[in-house]
Amino acid sequence: MAGGFCTLNDAALAGKRVLLRVDLNVPMKNGAVSDVTRLERVTPTIAEIADKAGKVILLSHLGRPKGRDPAHSLRPVAAALAAMLHRPVGFVEDCIGPRARAAVAAMRPGDIVCLENTRFHDGEERNDAAFVAALAELGDLWVNDAFSAAHRAHASTEGLGHLLPAYAGRALEAELQALGKALETPEHPVVAIVGGAKISTKLALLQHLIARVDFLAVGGGMANTFLAAQGKPIGKSLAEPDLAASAREILAEAERRHCEIVLPCDAVVAPALKAHAATAVVPIAAVAADAMILDLGPRSVERVVSVLARAKTLLWNGPVGAFEIEPFDTATIQIAEAAAELTTAGKLVSIAGGGDTVAALNRAGVTARFSYVSTAGGAFLEWLEGRTLPGVAILQAKPRNQANAAGAMIG
Ligand code: 3PG
Ligand code: MG
Repeated sequence: MAGGFCTLNDAALAGKRVLLRVDLNVPMKNGAVSDVTRLERVTPTIAEIADKAGKVILLSHLGRPKGRDPAHSLRPVAAALAAMLHRPVGFVEDCIGPRARAAVAAMRPGDIVCLENTRFHDGEERNDAAFVAALAELGDLWVNDAFSAAHRAHASTEGLGHLLPAYAGRALEAELQALGKALETPEHPVVAIVGGAKISTKLALLQHLIARVDFLAVGGGMANTFLAAQGKPIGKSLAEPDLAASAREILAEAERRHCEIVLPCDAVVAPALKAHAATAVVPIAAVAADAMILDLGPRSVERVVSVLARAKTLLWNGPVGAFEIEPFDTATIQIAEAAAELTTAGKLVSIAGGGDTVAALNRAGVTARFSYVSTAGGAFLEWLEGRTLPGVAILQAKPRNQANAAGAMIG
């Protein structure tokens, strides 16, 4: 029992049917997996359970299908997992019902099967009792290794924990340990870098962070809303003028909390968001009416890097420029490189998360040098906001002696 929940250390796995919830919601291109990061995270848990003679029954969603939809089949993902594990991974075309029951009944200790996309049944997202029971029937215990889906109270991410003994998998355990240390008991000074397009999706996050971090560097489109709220010129940059009052409130609250907000002082501008557009570097005060702010300028990057150099802990969510289009990925990559270097030198604990952030760190080639990179998007954000994740809460709600309790109930 670590972090208030049971782990694989507490589970008797030999001969047991283990329903293992993983997040196989990976990017696909032309029917094949195009980014295996999430698969790499869960292969150790799969291998450990199989090596301990458990029968591994993989549960996951893929995409957001409305009902059964071959385009969202997990079959190619199961094949990718098999290749990474160097072990056979059986595939079953349904996650409940006669086919699933027959496949599970035929499993031997150490076998691995992947059941079809749980979202092919609408009971998954509704956390419907009958669907949860149909899943639970297939297993003796439930292991949740899908932190990135833990913000969903779905049947396979939460519901199963009510019916079966529940354990955290190794990836979820590592994730909670890394994230918990960084936000709950971090070494100060703590700097948060928050980027991305919109403030509206990150208001709760900003409010939560200013009460906890020493520096908050804001970049991306959301920085424009802050700049405009301060009466600075932002030309025709992306911004949310409706949120000017909220932005000013955050600035005032940050000051009361002694959290220093680091806004851009210069910018890379262009007439439009286009690859290799004609760019210029200007101080914020000189952004022209027909210009778009698309990345931090070099002085702003220097300021962020100098804050990083003074900090002990970094929490990063969201790129600081329009990183998907060159050359507007420059500042994000430079900051990522600086953070990676400080981390390697043992001076900084660096935690990053979110789909775009991970893509940017991968592009910068620094992911492996960060202390911890979360593959979670929405779950990472909700966790940073201080919200309770249902898929974690259910693990924490289980009794210490749950295996014995379940045994006693069966016996
Ligand atoms: C994710 O990719 O963030 C998780 O797998 C959750 O997916 P969802 O946003 O479709 O619930
Ligand atoms: Mg998603």
